Amino acid sequence: MSGRLESEPIARRDFLGLAGLWTTAIAIGGALLGMVRLPKPSVLPEASRRFRLGRPDEFPPGTSKVIAGQNVLVVSKPQGIAALSLVCTHLGCIVSKNEAGFSCPCHGSAFDGDGRIVAGPAPRGLRWLQVSAAVDGRLIVNAGNEVDPGTYYRV
Ligand code: FES
Repeated sequence: MSGRLESEPIARRDFLGLAGLWTTAIAIGGALLGMVRLPKPSVLPEASRRFRLGRPDEFPPGTSKVIAGQNVLVVSKPQGIAALSLVCTHLGCIVSKNEAGFSCPCHGSAFDGDGRIVAGPAPRGLRWLQVSAAVDGRLIVNAGNEVDPGTYYRV
């Protein structure tokens, strides 16, 4: 006995037509969603690696100072101010300053006082970082910009 509440079985041709319609709708929806997301960057930019050092008179010629938390040594000489990265160029350990220059505690690389390599396995010397001045005259180090060794910022 078939009642009025029982649904009729869907015909195969109708089922395939509905499946095709839903598949098309999902594909169009996905494409529209992709178009809406297109203007947004999917890769976020890296945080700035610039940081302020302070006023130039805080670094009198003949002094050097490790900037806490930045792994940078600021060297002040009569020719200007320079910043050396204290990150070893081998595998990234933090080098320590000694009388001869710098030494790496991890695998024994040694660098002279200007960061030139003296003993490996580090493949190259320490990185010199860009130093500049902000509008207010305070010094800025850009740890993302390497400069040639021996580059001093004239104050
Ligand atoms: S990390 Fe400095 S020598 Fe290996």
